[in-house]
Amino acid sequence: METTCIILKPDAVQRGLMGRIISRFEDKGLQIIGAKVMLISEELASRHYAVHKGKPFYNKLLQFMTSSPVLVMAIQGVGAIDVCRKLMGATFGSQADPGTIRGDFGVSNSYNLIHGSDAPESAETEIGLFFDQNELFPYDMAIKGWIYDISGGEPE
Ligand code: RTP
Ligand code: MG
Repeated sequence: METTCIILKPDAVQRGLMGRIISRFEDKGLQIIGAKVMLISEELASRHYAVHKGKPFYNKLLQFMTSSPVLVMAIQGVGAIDVCRKLMGATFGSQADPGTIRGDFGVSNSYNLIHGSDAPESAETEIGLFFDQNELFPYDMAIKGWIYDISGGEPE
C-alpha cells in the first residue's frame, strides 16, 4: 500500500471541479484517507516545490499555488503514486491525453489543476508537510476483496 499527496490546485477549486476530480480517484478504487481545504502559505509552497527553486516558472508557480484555496488529499492504494500520476496525465494541459484529469479538464500549461507526488520519498515528505498524523484516517474497505485480488493474502 502506498499513500500519495494530491493537491487540487486553486484553478480546480475555483472552477468547481473538485467533485468530478475526486470521483476519478474513488472510481479507480483508491481510498481518500485525509483531506483538507486550505490556503497554502508562501513558506509552505516554497517547501513543497523546493525542487523547482531557481527555475524560470518557480515564482509564478508559488504565486499561483498561494493565490486561492486548494484541496489537499492523502490517497491510498496499491501503487497509488504511479496510479494517480497516470490518472492526472502529462504536466501540461495542452499535451495531456484525453481520459486523464489534465487532458479532460484543462488546456493551460501552468494552471494544470492538480499536483501528485512523483516518488515514494516525495510522497512521504509531502504528506508530512500537509498533514499531522492525527489527520490521517486509514480504514478497512469493506469491498477490498473486489477491488483487489486478495486471494494470495495481499492485495494484488
Ligand atoms: P506537480 O509537481 O504540480 O504535480 O506537476 P508535475 O510533477 O507534473 O510537473 P513539475 O515539473 O513538477 O512542475 C510543477 C508545476 O509547475 C508548473 N509548471 N509550469 N510554464 C511552465 O513551463 C511550467 N512548468 C511547470 C506546473 O503547474 C507544474 O505542475
Ligand atoms: Mg512535480
